[in-house]
Amino acid sequence: MKTNKNGIELLQDPAFNKSTAFTEEEKQALGIVGLIPDVTETEEAQLSRVLMQLSHKSTDLERYIYLVNLLDHNETLFYRTIMSDPARFLPIVYDPTIAEACLKFGHIYRQARGMYLSITRRGKVKEILKNWPQKDVRFICVTDGGRILGLGDLGANGAGIPIGKLQLYTACAGVPPQYLLPMYLDAGTNNEQYLHDPLYLGMRRTRPPTRELYSFVDEFVEAVQEVFPKCCIHFEDWTGVDAVHLLKRYRDKYCVYNDDVQGTAGITLAGMINAARLKGTKLRDEKYLFLGAGSAGIGLADLLCSALVLKGLSLEEAQSRIYMFDINGLLESTRTDLVDFQKPYAHKHAPTRDFVAAIESIKPTTIIGVSTVGGAFTQKVVEAMSRINERPVILALSNPTEKAECTPEQAYAWSNGKAIYAAGVQFATVRLNGKTFLPGQANNFYIFPAVGMAIFATQATRATDEMFIEAGQAVADQVPKDLLDQGLLYPLQSNILETEIKTAARVAKLVFDSGLARVDRPKDMVAFIQQHVYKPEYETFPASHSQTKRAA
Ligand code: NAI
Repeated sequence: MKTNKNGIELLQDPAFNKSTAFTEEEKQALGIVGLIPDVTETEEAQLSRVLMQLSHKSTDLERYIYLVNLLDHNETLFYRTIMSDPARFLPIVYDPTIAEACLKFGHIYRQARGMYLSITRRGKVKEILKNWPQKDVRFICVTDGGRILGLGDLGANGAGIPIGKLQLYTACAGVPPQYLLPMYLDAGTNNEQYLHDPLYLGMRRTRPPTRELYSFVDEFVEAVQEVFPKCCIHFEDWTGVDAVHLLKRYRDKYCVYNDDVQGTAGITLAGMINAARLKGTKLRDEKYLFLGAGSAGIGLADLLCSALVLKGLSLEEAQSRIYMFDINGLLESTRTDLVDFQKPYAHKHAPTRDFVAAIESIKPTTIIGVSTVGGAFTQKVVEAMSRINERPVILALSNPTEKAECTPEQAYAWSNGKAIYAAGVQFATVRLNGKTFLPGQANNFYIFPAVGMAIFATQATRATDEMFIEAGQAVADQVPKDLLDQGLLYPLQSNILETEIKTAARVAKLVFDSGLARVDRPKDMVAFIQQHVYKPEYETFPASHSQTKRAA
């Protein structure tokens, strides 16, 4: 990256600011002598100051605010910090801390990040997109705040999600930050609390009818194609119905994906592959019962079917292995309240609103919680699963933490240590009857940054389900046997960048094989991905910098 800036203007640009790490020659060349302390510190010294200051904060929300502030001033040092210890910092910049940050977004707001586009700007979306200073945007993560995590409609407070999500593209898979644009589409909110909050930062009106919303989204998606022709649009945290419908609307025309649908599905698939590995069974031998049939549940069910079809089942056979249960009970063929995309999973079965009864009748090998209802996997549920299965697989994916359908302690204790468990958030190691259990985190951040890196490097024209299936398989293959034997279904977070580079290389190979790449096929896929990886290291400014600027 290059800049023509110097002096105070350069110090105020977070992409180029080196803070106390400018050399004497750079200070002279850039005209910043006297504008910063007269020292030249190493990046390690700067990092140790950040870590010391963070240690004085008493809550993760305060650490989050501190880190966002650091990002506003010094992007390199921000990424150096979070990439130095991902297992420690991912939960601060993203889930679970991001949940609290979103709930208080209007209150903790300091500075704009990304773009904010209101439905009242219809007709002018293209011109507004051109206000963004970077001309080569490769990813827009966009939400309307309709269903933020498991917290419901947060309206403009949901703007924190695209900001955090895009940071993970860089921190987990090395996608360079200058190509990333967080976006909030403001179509109002039905959240009464925020509509009456004087510090709320969105439009004070309720949400429009679906047709009006979709015509706004249409204009946005089409404008992106013109203003940023190499851009992939990542939809995030829309309500379940909008998520599925909007994905269907654009996926065959443009490079778009929905992380709640496809990313969740990819990561859960990885867990299912490893659960089957642990049990010595095959994916096609399993029977799945979902609690929750929204965007995450349907996305996962559809992708699981695609994966089973790739393994030789017909679509009907694959669908017959998947049952779903939602707020109104088991999805079955007499239900009249189902939307189109839920119907393939409504099999012939007596109606029931009792989840334990459904387990006893269907006899699933795996239950998957995507219901947003904390504690929904009760002792009776886990005991029923344990009666039917030698190793019941229990995936409690809802987040934030208090929404998990059960905790690992509960799953292991109620199943007498037999459960194979993963959650949507990170839980601590569990000791039970002298044994150590490692609950994995089925977090999309193993998947979407890697798929994103593959799309970025190959300049892919589409984001397909097959890419998310390949990513899920690649993640599953990277769990070492000794950790898998302790119940860990996912790779450790401590070396997440290495894991994601390997995953991205496998996805990139698929992009080339599918004819979707816009660049030439390289010989060595891992080396190709590595060439594109962002490193949190400062630029070196040549002594001629200020003259270059003056000449320019
Ligand atoms: P959604 O709002 O589209 O769907 C929720 C579903 O749960 C609906 O089908 C609803 O009928 C059902 N439900 C609600 N209350 C219920 C009850 N008492 N009993 C049975 N079913 C009930 O939400 P979405 O997008 O599907 O997300 C669901 C959860 O999954 C959220 O908590 C979200 O944070 C989590 N999620 C986790 C991810 C991960 O990486 N672990 C990724 C994406 C979503």
